[in-house]
Amino acid sequence: MNAPALEGLRLNVPDHVKHARLVSWVAEIAALTEARDVYWCDGSTEEYDRLCAQLVTAGTFKRLNPELRPNSYLALSDPGDVARVEDRTFICTPSRDDAGPTNHWMDPAVMRGILQTGQPDGTPALFKGSMRGRTMYVVPFSMGPLGSPIAHIGVELSDSPYVAVNMKIMTRMGRKVLDVLGADGHFVPCVHTVGAPLVDGQKDVSWPCNKTKYIVHYPDTQEIWSYGSGYGGNALLGKKCFALRIASTMGREQGWLAEHMLVLGVTSPTGVKRHVAAAFPSACGKTNFAMLIPPAGLDGWKVTTIGDDIAWIKPGTDGRLYAINPEAGYFGVAPGTNEKTNPNCMASLKRDVIFTNVALTDDGDVWWEGMTDTPPAHLIDWQGKDWTPAVAKETGAKAAHPNARFTVAAIHNPALDAEWDNPAGVPIDAFIFGGRRSTTVPLVTEARNWVEGVYMAATMGSETTAAAAGQQGVVRRDPFAMLPFMGYNMSDYFSHWLKLGEKLKASGAALPKIYCVNWFRKGEDGKFVWPGYGENMRVLQWMLGRIEGTAGGQENLFGVSPRYGDLQWKGLDFSPQQFDTVSAVDAAAWTTELDSHTELFQQLALRLPAELPATQKQLRERLAALA
Ligand code: GTP
Ligand code: SPV
Ligand code: MN
Repeated sequence: MNAPALEGLRLNVPDHVKHARLVSWVAEIAALTEARDVYWCDGSTEEYDRLCAQLVTAGTFKRLNPELRPNSYLALSDPGDVARVEDRTFICTPSRDDAGPTNHWMDPAVMRGILQTGQPDGTPALFKGSMRGRTMYVVPFSMGPLGSPIAHIGVELSDSPYVAVNMKIMTRMGRKVLDVLGADGHFVPCVHTVGAPLVDGQKDVSWPCNKTKYIVHYPDTQEIWSYGSGYGGNALLGKKCFALRIASTMGREQGWLAEHMLVLGVTSPTGVKRHVAAAFPSACGKTNFAMLIPPAGLDGWKVTTIGDDIAWIKPGTDGRLYAINPEAGYFGVAPGTNEKTNPNCMASLKRDVIFTNVALTDDGDVWWEGMTDTPPAHLIDWQGKDWTPAVAKETGAKAAHPNARFTVAAIHNPALDAEWDNPAGVPIDAFIFGGRRSTTVPLVTEARNWVEGVYMAATMGSETTAAAAGQQGVVRRDPFAMLPFMGYNMSDYFSHWLKLGEKLKASGAALPKIYCVNWFRKGEDGKFVWPGYGENMRVLQWMLGRIEGTAGGQENLFGVSPRYGDLQWKGLDFSPQQFDTVSAVDAAAWTTELDSHTELFQQLALRLPAELPATQKQLRERLAALA
């Protein structure tokens, strides 16, 4: 670096920044990446509007028709940058075993060579000069309510203004975070580049990115380095990278949980309020469940949203678990969202939204598959091409990418829970785990105890979705819906859950009940049998009845399930035969299912807690008795 005076000028450090370590780190990264200049985000609305206008000029954003969708924008990404890249996501711990067999691992020194310092064979570091010709945005953010004891602060340095404006919606972002940091507060450093330097006045593209991608975590030093992608969880580093992968390692050390869970409040007609946290894999229904509107026939019930994707859960002094949502917005799946499936979501999306990879209508609004029964006669699709229903019928071309998403502030959700940003969190009465399974797994099962619940969660399988790059619709084990988001060894994580159960039990408080659900069983016609969405309230109501001790059930292979008569059917035409299709436990299918659990346990054998194979042994015995 040059003389400090010049350095100060180029770094544009605002007067209110008092944090010397932060400034010197910003200087270090600016020097490494050779950013053209540095801009410190203040998080104001004025700044948001200015950056959005700049994104419109650059062609990244299209401003939507202000009469139809006020203050909203559409971004179309590069077709090669549309989802999380699990193959390119790394946990770099000194020991490979600490990352564990479910994570991609690299030696931290080797990874630093690739990203920061250059490789022994002379290959230059990827971050060297990666921001040339671009502004580096300093994005200070808080995960959790600002200044509260449970919140954690990060600073993301990114050459993407798209990231800066999304982070404004998704987190508490800006100057107020720097004020809390003060002169020497702790922050998690997050470095992000799209990996597309501009040389000698080279014209920019609307969605810069690089074919090479690295999403890298150093849990031991709590650092995040992301290269080559501008999309979602790859680039908005507060979300999966920080609030799940890094936070899970914090939780392991400090005795709490960072989970891929929605959190909702549910109030009964008599005014009893309970809280439920539910882990479903990506694009498997968290946002929908978190905003659920009970159907006709279940009048008087009310669901309110605390969070739709991530929960931080800590034991309180009373021995109960308390959950907060560390985020401030929703980065949710657009396709499939409509006035019937999720009216609260549709209401949330009326204004102040950033849409990514949905289709554009001729009158300047947005559309996606499933928004309306009849698609518009003409659209511009997510790749910027003309789209008509007739051509789509022939080619199968989707107007919106299946992983198209909206970014919107939580405060726009009409079902937002009054406690959603209470730093004390909400007490959790039940955990739900649910995968996407067209066969085998019944509608709902209650674990008979904590260990059995941990077993259910640990062995959960789900069909892969468009939320991650790669093959779709294949069943894989996705323990706790955390497979792509674990910051450490999965077996150690199972032990962490088991130990937490022991600790809670010792305190004498009632443990949350644990449930396994599946909304996705299909009939012979290939269609979902369970109506889902709002009708999931019937299952939730049964769980609450179990907690109160009023709802009946019968033991099945791996827990307790409702009989037809144990669910409330008023307002829904669903026959006992249909119920049987979604809830039957098939012995042959479960033999195969338990075998796939064995495969998982073999993969995780090192450090696997003995409780899990022991539980499996009991299930095998029960299955043999059933058959
Ligand atoms: P991430 O944001 O990726 O973590 O996902 P999410 O779990 O919040 O996913 P979301 O709620 O957005 O679900 C997306 C997909 O699940 C869409 O295709 C929905 O139509 C579908 N979906 C959600 N709930 C249900 C349901 O009850 N039944 C059925 N059949 N589909 C559902
Ligand atoms: C998920 O994939 O689980 C998401 C979207 O919530 S992303 O933030 O892109 O990871
Ligand atoms: Mn998610």
